[in-house]
Amino acid sequence: MRVVLLGPPGAGKGTQAQRLAALTGAAHLAIGEMVRAEIADQTPLGHTLQGYYDRGDLAPDTLIVEMVTSYLTRVDSWILDGFPRTKTQARALDATLAERGAILDRVIWLDLPDEEVIRRLTGRRQSRATGKIYHLADNPPPPDDPGPFVQRADDTPENIRHRLESYHAVTEPLKAYYAASGLLTEIDARGPISAITDAILRAVRQS
Ligand code: AP5
Repeated sequence: MRVVLLGPPGAGKGTQAQRLAALTGAAHLAIGEMVRAEIADQTPLGHTLQGYYDRGDLAPDTLIVEMVTSYLTRVDSWILDGFPRTKTQARALDATLAERGAILDRVIWLDLPDEEVIRRLTGRRQSRATGKIYHLADNPPPPDDPGPFVQRADDTPENIRHRLESYHAVTEPLKAYYAASGLLTEIDARGPISAITDAILRAVRQS
């Protein structure tokens, strides 16, 4: 299985990728998590990425492409969460797949209006123990997750607004790129979490 999950911030890419990985055994390649890990580990790459992350800007294509392609060479079955987000990244993914004689099964686009993005991201919490993503109102942490449940440093109103602007300007145009190749499935991300997982699995199985 080789699936790309795209959509605005807060659309549920991470939530759905975690569920799909558990159900299918495919690797969950979460680019935002990779960026956060580099920053937390204070690596030289992390120092470079920090400013982009703190502002809600996309990190430079060269750095992200290098990071992602090194993972793609190690696993065969994957769910890409949040990559590609620019045309340069999309072309780099095409080239990596072509080099390996592999094909992309589907690009799933989770659509969500901006007001709902803001509501979701302000209520999001992530478990430090399990890495699972929750929402204070819609998807509260279960009693068996010990937590603690923390808010992401980039979930500030200003950062969210900036991520949304960058999404509309740079990433949303990729819809046309993938529609043209016949790989795109758009899904309304406002339904229940499990119904969206089912819709993604249906789209992937039909591809
Ligand atoms: P990243 O971590 O990928 O952030 P993002 O794209 O802004 O997306 P989010 O993680 O905020 O949202 P999500 O869609 O995963 O939603 P979630 O499942 O958590 O990237 C962070 C940064 O890294 C970027 O700003 C950039 O600097 C850098 N970066 C990453 N990729 C890059 C790239 N390719 N190129 C350059 N730079 C890159 O859900 C959100 C909330 O909603 C949760 O609370 C969840 O419980 C809830 N929820 C989910 N689904 C539902 C539902 N169906 N109903 C109700 N609530 C729901």
